[in-house]
Amino acid sequence: MSTPHDSVVRITVDESDAVAINPGMWGVFFEDINTSADGGLYAELVRNRDFGFIERDAPGWGPLTGWTTKGAVRPSGTPVRVELDGRDAPASITNHGFDGIAVRRGEPLILELGFEVLDGDPTLVVTLHDANGAVLAEGSAADGRLTPSDGCADARLTIAVTDGTVAVSWVSLFPERTWRGDSNGLRSDLGDVIAALRPRFVRFPGGCVAHGLGLDNVYRWKNTIGPVRDRVGDSNLWGYHQSMGLGYFEYFRFCEQLGAEPLPVLAAGVCCQNTPGGQAAFDDEQLAAYIGDIRDLIAWANAPADSRWGAVRAAAGHPEPFGLRYLGIGNEDEQSPAFRSRFGEILAVLRAEHPEITVIGTVGPFPSGSDYETGWAIARELEVPIVDEHSYKAPKWYFQNLDRFDRYDRSGPKVYVGEYGSRGNTMLCALAEAAYMSAMERNGDVVHLASYAPLLAKVGNTQWEPDLVYFDNERVLPSLNYWVQQMHAHAAGDRALPVDVAGAPQWQRRRSARSRFSVRAASGTLTVEDVSTEDASGRRTTPGAAGVQRYQEPVDARGADITHRARVRLDGGQDGFVVAFGDPESDLSYEWHFGTWQEKFLVLGYVADGLYDEWTEPIPFTWPRGHEFDLEIIVRDAGRHIICSIDGEIVHDVQEDPSPEERFSATAIRDAASGRTVVKVVNATDEPVDLVVGWAGGGEPLWMRVTELSAPAEAGRPFEAAPSLPTERVDAGSRTRVAAYSFAVLDLDPEPSR
Ligand code: AHR
Repeated sequence: MSTPHDSVVRITVDESDAVAINPGMWGVFFEDINTSADGGLYAELVRNRDFGFIERDAPGWGPLTGWTTKGAVRPSGTPVRVELDGRDAPASITNHGFDGIAVRRGEPLILELGFEVLDGDPTLVVTLHDANGAVLAEGSAADGRLTPSDGCADARLTIAVTDGTVAVSWVSLFPERTWRGDSNGLRSDLGDVIAALRPRFVRFPGGCVAHGLGLDNVYRWKNTIGPVRDRVGDSNLWGYHQSMGLGYFEYFRFCEQLGAEPLPVLAAGVCCQNTPGGQAAFDDEQLAAYIGDIRDLIAWANAPADSRWGAVRAAAGHPEPFGLRYLGIGNEDEQSPAFRSRFGEILAVLRAEHPEITVIGTVGPFPSGSDYETGWAIARELEVPIVDEHSYKAPKWYFQNLDRFDRYDRSGPKVYVGEYGSRGNTMLCALAEAAYMSAMERNGDVVHLASYAPLLAKVGNTQWEPDLVYFDNERVLPSLNYWVQQMHAHAAGDRALPVDVAGAPQWQRRRSARSRFSVRAASGTLTVEDVSTEDASGRRTTPGAAGVQRYQEPVDARGADITHRARVRLDGGQDGFVVAFGDPESDLSYEWHFGTWQEKFLVLGYVADGLYDEWTEPIPFTWPRGHEFDLEIIVRDAGRHIICSIDGEIVHDVQEDPSPEERFSATAIRDAASGRTVVKVVNATDEPVDLVVGWAGGGEPLWMRVTELSAPAEAGRPFEAAPSLPTERVDAGSRTRVAAYSFAVLDLDPEPSR
């Protein structure tokens, strides 16, 4: 709720006192999550082209996943080949692509087949056809081109054999038109949408994919280079398969074509702590070999073409060095002694042997809490140049943390905000990110790099939402968050200028002193008994309910101090249960999650602006099914202080961060190269705001070019609903009006009146 204000907000930019910042601050983070590599950015149209899928990728998967068969067909051998015995009757295999194969009329496709004749004098025919079998293109055994006679969103590719037996080891179909025309290249429209962000760096290949689920799943860059047929695929911890067709060479090429710095992330000698059994670390011998691989990576990227690894790069078609300058070591790792020692050893080697490489460390998964604190202590002690910190938080958190980096030590490690996102694709979320980005830029002497996450998501194949750009086989759907990234990146600079804002609208969250208790479970049998609620007006009890998945306490409690009690038990089920309290109809309510993240954790969270966020650090938690919990929740000071107990023991005692939510902010950037001075205004209130811009030394711009993105706070949900696009206008003079719920970039007249 913003307090109505009819006065003009005065923004005064001080050009005399600039902070130097990294003009290459805004980049992207590409991870193969949400089917964003195979079936996404990587343009290959055949799924499981080498029959390499295995059970570890996903339950029930194997060599024929993605294929249907007719006649005598069987997989055999290692690596797997598929034998089609067409001696007695035709045998065929049909690939269904990644949710179908989308083709356009007249746009050629490159077909590659790997096969061996085992018996007879077989005829092998390849057809591209629609779901009803209508043929769109036909070819023979020879590699070549297929040109569809018609467009089709859901085509399939069939290999049929008659009069003999053939073992097929490879079937690939690529659009001839790839992004910037590379062979083994990228999907054109997805390459374009990323390029339009003008990223100055690309972080890859993960994320969790980099450190893997188990030491044998750590991403190995060497498996991803060289001829594609020789690459070693692996399971993707997001629940599918990585062909590695999009490998290190393609990532580096992509960076080069984008004009972006490559920022590969390598595991820090430990795997993901979410691996069953927890974090595991390489032993000394394994670590020594792994460090050897890191040395080789630097040589592969940077050494001359006549060196051992430079020659490998040159053989792939790139004799010139790639110019690698950044290397991420570790991703969101638990800051254990094992991590510290492995990371420390890798850092020491790189520091001694490769001073030209800037190492980026990690401070755990969250922007606060124990890993974050330990991570920062390690980073300071080891003098890590840059650390990667992540925040996936609700808009409330961002609006309350716009001063976060103001408080960072200017002489310690710099920050790379490698992953952030505000848990939704609504305009309010986009604005929270816009404001946080402005705050990073204002603190560009501390925040060196930043990238939103995740970048891409295939509709219907997401493991993580929200994402920046959604797509299917034919469409690309950028979110409102995407336009914010683009607006910031297109108005980057090399100096942050101090700004004074007078008369900014004030905003206050509507709070409620009411609390309603409920419990829900997605599955299993929930029993809720002896429910009582106590407030200033007395104690009420209600009978419990067994065998329901959702229990709702019908009595509302009101007051500054409310206590809910209940006995809860869950039999069976898969995702634990959630206790909800507070006022679900207000702007702020609470959820206590028992068994979140695959039943591993206990965590207290809040729901603000319709979005859930963790309030406490997750506490490892398992419970025997059928156990009865006596729960007590004390809601004090209308939710500013909450105490939760299990069986009489306090597990959470938390006070809300009292920082105000800054829903209006303005920052300024100067860019020497273009001579631009830009003011960035975020108005996340429900009122339009009139602005006047001027310089600290006096004078005002004679005109301003205003690029503005505005939409209702809830717009963008669901993301398919066509969101608003940024608009441009030129306003004469130094005054303008920014809309309610808007992000505006004001390009100031370079020759102001003084
Ligand atoms: O961006 C999705 C995931 O979020 C990343 O893989 C991981 O680093 C983080 O937990």
